[in-house]
Amino acid sequence: MGLWTERRREPGWVLLPLRLFLGVVFLDAGISKIADKRFLDDASPTSMHANVLAIKGASPIGDLLGPVADHGALFGILLAFAEIAVGLGVLLGVATRLAAVGGMVLSLSLWLTVSWQANPWFTSADVVYLVALTPLAIAGTGGVLSLDGWLANAAVRRPGRGREHTRRTLLTGAVAVLGVAVVGAASLVRRRSVSTAEPDSSGSGTASTGVLAKVSEVPVGGAKQVTDPTSGDPAWVLQLTPGQFTAVDAVCPHQGCPVNFASADAGFICPCHGSTFDSTGKRLSGPAQRNLQAISVAADGTEIRRT
Ligand code: FES
Repeated sequence: MGLWTERRREPGWVLLPLRLFLGVVFLDAGISKIADKRFLDDASPTSMHANVLAIKGASPIGDLLGPVADHGALFGILLAFAEIAVGLGVLLGVATRLAAVGGMVLSLSLWLTVSWQANPWFTSADVVYLVALTPLAIAGTGGVLSLDGWLANAAVRRPGRGREHTRRTLLTGAVAVLGVAVVGAASLVRRRSVSTAEPDSSGSGTASTGVLAKVSEVPVGGAKQVTDPTSGDPAWVLQLTPGQFTAVDAVCPHQGCPVNFASADAGFICPCHGSTFDSTGKRLSGPAQRNLQAISVAADGTEIRRT
């Protein structure tokens, strides 16, 4: 008990929750980008290319973003792998200070670009990550639950084994880490591709017919959330005027969170960073720079279909 009381005050233990949180956040961010085909597809409205073009004008470093927009897929992959490297470094305690500094550079870049319009400014997650990584850049892991610390201790405990043993241990660790990253990325890709394919593979479902919803499911003056059978995206079907149906893609053009429908008067709000859109999908405020994508629909008897 006495030992634990003493230990829990050590910087390495105090910083452990921060390491776990930031490590998971960066790993998730990187793997999600690789797993999302649309992020690397310049033609997609949620791609790296489209996002850079959208925020370029409002960013204080917008003049530097030309090459990033021109090579969106390349920079998207680099960003994803950099995030994975930061996540692994912080989580496993490998070159933790360097990983934390790298994470700060990424967070600063993202704050000055994609979340520069967040209002108030401190609601930007990127500025929070930037500050939260600072203690790790200063103190590292303190030798607590860290691969670097474990390797150093192993070398001290078994000096006879020397560099060769350390090198082999390091290689084994690196391969294990790589395996975890690849398996995680692959399972995410698989999960997403399966969920996107589901509507098309149903045979009798909405995918083959282009049906978004039944007329009776969409209230007058209200909306129903559906899955767009063509893109696999979440979407909203609305009936603002009796008998007149409209639809919008629910993917926020800022960073891809699904927007929520508030009411016919209040429109849509994005839960991630607060962008708002009217009920036609027109952008009203927030970091998103574009409108929600309209989906052309028409009522066909009892069903609402894409046209
Ligand atoms: Fe950032 Fe919607 S994802 S405002």
